[in-house]
Amino acid sequence: MGSKRAPFIVIEGLDRSGKTTQTALLQGRLEREGIPNKLLKFPDRTTTIGQMIDSYLKSASELDDHVIHLLFSANRWELASTIEKLLAEGVTVIADRYAFSGIAFSASKVESSASDPGTTIPKLPFEWCRAPDIGLPAPDEVLFLDIAPEQARLRGGYGEERYEKEEMQARVRQVFQHLGEETSSEKPQSERLAPGTKWTVIDAGKERDAVAENMWASVQSLVRGGLTQPVWK
Ligand code: TMP
Repeated sequence: MGSKRAPFIVIEGLDRSGKTTQTALLQGRLEREGIPNKLLKFPDRTTTIGQMIDSYLKSASELDDHVIHLLFSANRWELASTIEKLLAEGVTVIADRYAFSGIAFSASKVESSASDPGTTIPKLPFEWCRAPDIGLPAPDEVLFLDIAPEQARLRGGYGEERYEKEEMQARVRQVFQHLGEETSSEKPQSERLAPGTKWTVIDAGKERDAVAENMWASVQSLVRGGLTQPVWK
């Protein structure tokens, strides 16, 4: 690849959006194309921090909302240098969730307002949620698998984990949409949340193979061509 590096691609989406299936299909496509690649999954439940996250998600333990947010971020920092090394070696990195999930889920936690108990307010401010991930290697492209929470629920229902509830997923979708706008290439680069990241919305309500084709169409020139600019931070 000469002085080029490989791209970093992140797949984001609501629970039951088909994200894990589609990530595996994308990896299969890279394999068939002969493109060296590595699939990462966040949270990475195999590390010591990851095991604490796993226990929290399964409601086997309770943690302060700030603490779990910082653990999710620390779980990404554990792999930050590995990601940079792989990209420099020409290995395309695909991540099933990343910092955007970190912000979207934590910023969607709400509590009743003390002054007006009928309304809810965020438990954690948006800027606070964003801060711990600043400086991580930023993806070159985010594929956001978009699906209406009602449609996601019909796909066999949500599982047992903590955030798999329709009201929570609806708020998460709104924060993801906000993150997409903040990352949009229509904004001047200096005002974007992630200046080098391309945010692509993929309609995840479509049939499986159509979704896979749309994802491939979006990333193929990036993964075939590589990049000369350093990894965005
Ligand atoms: P998973 O189902 O993709 O393994 O993700 C586990 C849950 O953790 C999912 O509901 C999204 C949530 N999550 C966060 O709250 N913060 C994060 O930083 C990440 C990566 C996931």
